[in-house]
Amino acid sequence: MRLVVFISGKGSNLTAISNACANAFIPAQIVSVISNNPSAAGLLFADQQDINTFVLDHHDFATREAHEAKIISYLDKIKPDYLILAGYMRVLSASFIDQFKYKIINIHPSLLPNYKGLNTHQRVLNDFKKGIQNQHGCSIHWVTAGVDEGQIIAQAALTISANDTESSLAKRVHCLEHQLYPLVLRHLCLQNINKPDELLNTEPIQYNEQQLGTAFNEIIQTL
Ligand code: GRF
Repeated sequence: MRLVVFISGKGSNLTAISNACANAFIPAQIVSVISNNPSAAGLLFADQQDINTFVLDHHDFATREAHEAKIISYLDKIKPDYLILAGYMRVLSASFIDQFKYKIINIHPSLLPNYKGLNTHQRVLNDFKKGIQNQHGCSIHWVTAGVDEGQIIAQAALTISANDTESSLAKRVHCLEHQLYPLVLRHLCLQNINKPDELLNTEPIQYNEQQLGTAFNEIIQTL
């Protein structure tokens, strides 16, 4: 399978996915990394790994559509099987999403449908302090026109502790993401995950921290 990873920043999920492709945990290759941010640190990682990069600063385009048109013509050339959003901080237009139906997947740092949007760790922590929330985590979902709204494929949850801060929660969620994304992409590439319309009544795969670690390590041991 041919994956394209979209990033805007640090790229720690890109690193986790790339490592998982390198050791055959994910039976796929990253054929390109696309970024709208020329300063994204993840681009350095991609260069070090000799992964092709395609950088298109959205500030250089008058409209979202013009920016996306360039991306689409590039994707038409490299023909990926899946577009993997990993910290890509641009909303994709409905028309872009429609052109890549059932091919775009995103990771979001919350247990959707709760805490859509930005600053999830702080918002969850605020609710924890009010005594109305003690769970946090991440979700992987199909991308549809509504932001953070597509059908959820899998989630990993953690229990917030009284010592947690925004930054400790961010770290803990990242740890979950770095196992959950490779796991989901493995199953997707092995074609164990169906397209959303065939999944209508299917619940997302749910892990807690311990279950996720076990599921991840069980696969590592078979490689
Ligand atoms: C992750 O927390 C992901 O859930 C969100 O953006 C962040 C990207 O982090 N969509 P990184 O760039 O992969 O380190």
